[in-house]
Amino acid sequence: MSRDDNSKNGGGPGEVGGAGVIDVHAHYVPNGWPRLGPGTPWLRIETERDAVIMLGDREFRRIRSDCWDAEVRLADMDADGVHAQVVSPTPVFFSYAADVAQATRIATVMNDLALEICAPAPGRLLPMCQVPLQDPDAACAELDRCMASGHVGVEIGNHVGDLDLDAEGIVTFLQHAASVGAPVFVHPWDMPSSPRLDRWMARWLVGMPAETHASVLAMILGGVFDRVPDRLRICFAHGGGSFAFWLGRMENAWHKRRDVIGTSRYPPSHYLGRFYVDSVVFDERALRLLVDTVGADRVVVGSDYPYPLGERPAGGVARKASFLDDDTRTRILSGNARAFLGRP
Ligand code: CO
Repeated sequence: MSRDDNSKNGGGPGEVGGAGVIDVHAHYVPNGWPRLGPGTPWLRIETERDAVIMLGDREFRRIRSDCWDAEVRLADMDADGVHAQVVSPTPVFFSYAADVAQATRIATVMNDLALEICAPAPGRLLPMCQVPLQDPDAACAELDRCMASGHVGVEIGNHVGDLDLDAEGIVTFLQHAASVGAPVFVHPWDMPSSPRLDRWMARWLVGMPAETHASVLAMILGGVFDRVPDRLRICFAHGGGSFAFWLGRMENAWHKRRDVIGTSRYPPSHYLGRFYVDSVVFDERALRLLVDTVGADRVVVGSDYPYPLGERPAGGVARKASFLDDDTRTRILSGNARAFLGRP
């Protein structure tokens, strides 16, 4: 959206309708970190503005300085009318398969570098931490350390190996996050790989939405929402994946196959209102389904900045969606994010 478009909505640069957009889904990669041991990502610097995330000898992803340079990020946010951005880890650094000591060290180093990246713009660049989720005690300790040092919440991967979000240790971590008031952003990662899925970006286009759908399902059918307090604030990336589209199928299965459907006390629709989803679905029809399904107070702007499968400007579909009234639009662009982040 151009600045002219913004002014039509009554706001100046950085504002839409008098309240700047808050983007809860963006990523960072620092431009330097110490050697963290074999099997961990490293960065091959190409130029001042370009680098490659390397996994061993393999190129994982080419990145640019918007991943680490606050000045570049803030200029993009200003151009896009984004007031604040949650800056989260890039999931390849989660390191949930590493031993706990190594994963804790990686989390510590990355989390401290995230604070440095966000330091130039307090209140606009809001760092989220990562934790060694394979070990609940270490994960809770790192979350506490980060919340005390300026992080606004935690991003977690949607699974730890074969463990979903209903695994005992992860539920313990979610209960702890609820008790300390840390919002949790769930990001799909480590998608299944096969000759069929390794074509056409299918791991990103099919795998990621399915992974996120499976995670919402684990929270519901695994009985997690029955066990964690209402005050847990949890948000799923990419519109919650394919969840909203298939709610009816899950609802039908819950009623027709109670013998195998899992342990939730209530049917899936009962838990709508317990979680947020971001808005990065690229299509007004999909956004409308989301708002109708999960609730107008449960959709927040996410962009996936600065990666190419993200939405620029952040919240672009929500800003223009014809089905939204002004009040609902403002909630989606910023108010719901304030509620999710606990930042009035
Ligand atoms: Co993302």
